[in-house]
Amino acid sequence: MTAARVRAGGAPVIAPAAVGSVTALRGAAMTFAADPFAVAAADALVYEPDALVVMRDGRIAAFGPAAALLPSLPAAATVVRYPNALLVPGFIDAHVHYAQLPVIGACGRTLLDWLEAHAFVAEERCADPVFAAAAAGAYLDECLRQGITTAAVYGTVHPGSVDALFAAALERGMRLIGGKALMDRHAPAALLDTAQRGYDESKALIARWHGRGRLAYAVTPRFAPTSTPAQLAAAGALLREHDGVYLQTHLAETADEIRWVQQLFPQARDYLDVYARHGLVGRRSVFGHGIHLDDDAWQRIFDAGAAVAHCPTSNNFLGSGHFRLGDAKRAPRRARVALATDVGGGTTLSMLATMAEAYKVARHTGFGLGPEQAFWLASGGGADALDLTGTIGGLAPGHDADIAVLDLAATPLLAYRMPFCESLSETLSVLMMLGDDRAVRATWVAGRLAHERRQPKRAPGGGRRDLR
Ligand code: GUN
Ligand code: ZN
Repeated sequence: MTAARVRAGGAPVIAPAAVGSVTALRGAAMTFAADPFAVAAADALVYEPDALVVMRDGRIAAFGPAAALLPSLPAAATVVRYPNALLVPGFIDAHVHYAQLPVIGACGRTLLDWLEAHAFVAEERCADPVFAAAAAGAYLDECLRQGITTAAVYGTVHPGSVDALFAAALERGMRLIGGKALMDRHAPAALLDTAQRGYDESKALIARWHGRGRLAYAVTPRFAPTSTPAQLAAAGALLREHDGVYLQTHLAETADEIRWVQQLFPQARDYLDVYARHGLVGRRSVFGHGIHLDDDAWQRIFDAGAAVAHCPTSNNFLGSGHFRLGDAKRAPRRARVALATDVGGGTTLSMLATMAEAYKVARHTGFGLGPEQAFWLASGGGADALDLTGTIGGLAPGHDADIAVLDLAATPLLAYRMPFCESLSETLSVLMMLGDDRAVRATWVAGRLAHERRQPKRAPGGGRRDLR
């Protein structure tokens, strides 16, 4: 029936699909033809009420109306039908700390205190490779339940935490960008490396993992306060020495942190300049947060082709401030922005819930985030931010076959509300405002079923059929 057998508990056993075999998903589908921050939403979306997404060898081979594509399907192809659902590109979480999953939701503090009280304590536990492997498995399984097929993930300072993460991602066929946190000051002794050790360990991890399967390495200085200038320089050297590796770090998340950075790096023009001086601002740089950036900094981010990962649930949880999406996207220099959970500062791994939070944060700053734009930030825009346009974040032929199947009647309230939707835009809005993991009926990773939600019993007549 499907490309994978499903265990009793709901988590599929991912069986390798035979080379050349074809699986097609049939149902309503939505993807993007353009960036909805650059063109009108109606021109940005591609919607097929009865689509076929044809998958072969881990990639999308064809996408279009089922009536047009069915006649050319090979006789041996498997077709999986998803009625009353919406197929969308698999979600992308562009900034997350997997080792903080054990402290998600520990409230009562602002960023710097929260790091000391919760994040660092959790991260120390990843010194144990068995603990790290269990955390990585739990984290990635939760991603799949949420429709997340790609993530940019912080490991801890321990190289073993990254081995565990990449091994678990490889096993699940997921696309994953990750790296060992670099920290050589202002953290507990158990979490410190040195500039040299951090460099050596990162280099060995790059050799071991970068480019293997769908994995890519990110040089990961945690943030400017926990790295000496020597360590930031070593991070810059790693980037220069290895083509295609990423840089991920935090930038301008809270006012206290910014004051601290000013004291530590008095010669820098601003926080972004600390990174720029060390060669860390480029096309594959992803900066978490970027809440407190002025126009000049946004211009420099745009000029460098760098990206910012917007983490709204974390920002609200820690009281860090309201990200100014309107500033980031001010024409003509629209910076690349992705959406991210930032768990454990973030309070959910649901990208739908994260979109809803982004909408509310944008409202606070006077920016009306359209639902099409919110979905873009979590798919096509995330791909763009990670320099992976054309590879992930879309359903057009050639993309990795990473797909989230959203259930339009996942909960009684969704089932009741959906029939009142008068447009696809409204449907997307309701999905992100009311949806969470329950709305993810299935997740396909590189053409294989990686998660299938057990269907709750439905009242007769519940749900509805068409979107428009
Ligand atoms: N800044 C430096 N480290 C972290 C972290 O782990 N979480 C968040 N939200 N901000 C940070
Ligand atoms: Zn973070």
